[in-house]
Amino acid sequence: MGKIHTQVGIIGAGPAGLTLAHLLHLQGIESVVLERQTREYVETRVRAGVLEQGTVEVLCASGVGERLQREGLEHQGVELRFDGRGHRIDFQELVGKSITVYAQQEVVKDLIAARLGYKAPIFFEAEATSIEEIEAQPRITYEYGGSTHEIRCDFIAGCDGFHGISRPAAPAAQMRIHERHYSFAWLGILAHVAPASHELIYTYHERGFSLLSMRSPEVSRLYLQCNPDEDIDQWSDDRIWEELRTRMATRDGFVLKDGPILQKGITPMRSFVAEPMQFGKLFLLGDAAHIVPPTGAKGLNLAVADVRVLTRGLVELYKNRKGDALERFTERCLQRVWKAQRFSWWMTSMLHRFPNEDSFAHNLHHAELDYLTSSRAASTSLAENYVGLPFDTPGLF
Ligand code: FAD
Ligand code: PHB
Repeated sequence: MGKIHTQVGIIGAGPAGLTLAHLLHLQGIESVVLERQTREYVETRVRAGVLEQGTVEVLCASGVGERLQREGLEHQGVELRFDGRGHRIDFQELVGKSITVYAQQEVVKDLIAARLGYKAPIFFEAEATSIEEIEAQPRITYEYGGSTHEIRCDFIAGCDGFHGISRPAAPAAQMRIHERHYSFAWLGILAHVAPASHELIYTYHERGFSLLSMRSPEVSRLYLQCNPDEDIDQWSDDRIWEELRTRMATRDGFVLKDGPILQKGITPMRSFVAEPMQFGKLFLLGDAAHIVPPTGAKGLNLAVADVRVLTRGLVELYKNRKGDALERFTERCLQRVWKAQRFSWWMTSMLHRFPNEDSFAHNLHHAELDYLTSSRAASTSLAENYVGLPFDTPGLF
């Protein structure tokens, strides 16, 4: 059995694990990253697209933002559409900030390139299978190259997403789960066609929610609300485009051109928080600890915010021998997580059709959207949350 010693054993090479490994490296703290998938798989997995201004600042200030600054699309507002009319929420004017559309897999590529560039350890096709002794000298066992290996470390960072092994490895009796399930899902497509708008459009329609987003001037990303048990094979390309056109139609003749669909899939919706996020020397970060429905575009951004908090705690401990920042990990992360949960739940509830909605509920959706788009106070609240609430500490972490 191969044995490695390191300071921080990181499980998962998604945005959380890779950003953590990178920030720790800049502070002279060693880590080893384990990823069960291939490098190609994680670099092509289609997921998030919206980066808060604070996330962009962390990536740029840590030296991995060169391509993001060149290729990312800066957006100064979004459109909310209902009743066949669009209403722009102007982030710049309301809160002086913006968001950047840059695909999650591009962030992942930039972070992997940086790590390989400075020759720090990262293993692909290395699946962590167990975590032990989280109260004393933590150990991670993993399968790599056909045999079993072990990492001994000071701390374990569980960055292995919602279906990873880290959360189940924590003592269940010490954990509280807070969750909400939704009675709908999103059918998402990536299509080779120029985006029909240069900003995102969130639409409330009596047939259900839809969203227009993009990845580049040539590639659109679109979503529509569907049933959670929807069979994707029942959705031909023509049917998808037709449904999107119906939901996004405006009184002044909005045109949604179609194009070849490059990828399609169904995403379930869930709100989930595990509390605490620390168990002895095991820390849970990103989707391993919490899930938000994608309507608020917060998942990846929350993962980066958790990483900042853990980095600060570990730097304080290794450099200044102070453990209190690390002890406050859960408290500091959850303050932000709950605000993002509230925002994501609110956006989701406002913009989707719930089963058996009566005319009362339908009119409430309208009244809320009407108020939101006509009141500066309400629009400012949306803008402030959407671009990302300020971090509680300045700088990189
Ligand atoms: P993950 O990205 O899930 O990474 C975990 C990694 O751990 C994976 O690579 C996995 O292979 C690996 N792993 C798991 N188990 C093991 C194991 N045993 N051993 C080794 N490795 C393991 N968020 C936003 O901020 N903005 C958006 O616009 C947005 N849109 C979204 C749209 C969709 C359709 C979806 C599905 C999500 C969206 N999100 C969005 C959410 C965002 O994608 C996630 O929150 C983000 O991926 C979380 O990053 P993570 O690193 O915590 O987890
Ligand atoms: C995306 O571009 O994938 C995206 C944008 C906004 C969201 C969710 C996903 O709220």
